[in-house]
Amino acid sequence: MAKIIAIANQKGGVGKTTTAINLCAALGETRRKVLLIDLDPQGNATTGSGVEKESLELSICDVLLGDCSSADAIVKPEHIQYHVLPGNADLTAAEVQLMSENGRERRLSEALSSIADDYEYIYIDCPPALNVLTLNAFVAADGVLIPMQCEYYALEGLSSLLRTIRQVQSSVNTKLRIEGILRTMFDGRNKLGHEVSNQLIEHFESKVYRTVIPRNIRLAEAPSFGKPIVYYDKSSRGSIAYLALAGEIIRREVSRQVASAQEEKTAESTTGGAPAAGEPVSTTTV
Ligand SMILES: Nc1ncnc2c1ncn2[C@@H]1O[C@H](COP(=O)(O)OP(=O)(O)OP(=O)(O)O)[C@@H](O)[C@H]1O
Ligand SMILES: [Mg+2]
Repeated sequence: MAKIIAIANQKGGVGKTTTAINLCAALGETRRKVLLIDLDPQGNATTGSGVEKESLELSICDVLLGDCSSADAIVKPEHIQYHVLPGNADLTAAEVQLMSENGRERRLSEALSSIADDYEYIYIDCPPALNVLTLNAFVAADGVLIPMQCEYYALEGLSSLLRTIRQVQSSVNTKLRIEGILRTMFDGRNKLGHEVSNQLIEHFESKVYRTVIPRNIRLAEAPSFGKPIVYYDKSSRGSIAYLALAGEIIRREVSRQVASAQEEKTAESTTGGAPAAGEPVSTTTV
């Protein structure tokens, strides 16, 4: 069963798409089965993965409107080690159409149920808005990865993002949690960057990934070649950072699985079997 992660921050240009493409590519390099969903009408995750966004036969738009299954719209490019459910400007039309439909926020979640077993990780690149598209991602996801640029205005808007996550968690998707906070475009020479980074650690503690993505020109160049950084310049600082992030995510996952197996064992030995009806099995925290 895939772990589904929405990459979201309604603030524009903080590195959501760069993270989506390069994290999927880095996890793909470790032979994990990965799908990247482009839920942004800008279609940058699509083109950055080397898929032409203008000539798509089917896209995530068709999936959301119920015109095709998600499996039908998935593209499997040969030059990269992950699959892409592409998106383009048609998503704007889908957004408008969804507004008037019942159960609109569950469309993506329902569409992914048939393919969730085919992947280990599904990442969703969200648009820079807390709109119905992002809401669909939050309803479908197990967690939200929040890229943050360590600069003066970085924390602005964070409270409305957290509020939205909490609202979804307390209504439609109780399993939703903050998966991690990722510091992006970090410039170590900048004092303010360190200050904001410290504030994030103070507030979010272990939710902040230890891996920091540096500002690196090679990361900005790679999309114009339709290639993730690992295929464009594998030895660049940007590539090494995203490979390190993939490693950190895999290690976190393994320790989480070990912890939950231990929890289950303890529960079994204290209750002598399965939890009683109504007894909480685990708690979810944002
Ligand atoms: N670590 C980095 N170093 C240098 N440039 C970067 C880095 N990360 C992202 N960029 C560049 O910054 C710009 C914004 O990045 P990106 O498109 O990933 O942000 P975004 O949050 O997806 O934006 P939007 O909100 O518009 O979807 C792009 O031109 C990208 O190439
Ligand atoms: Mg983007």
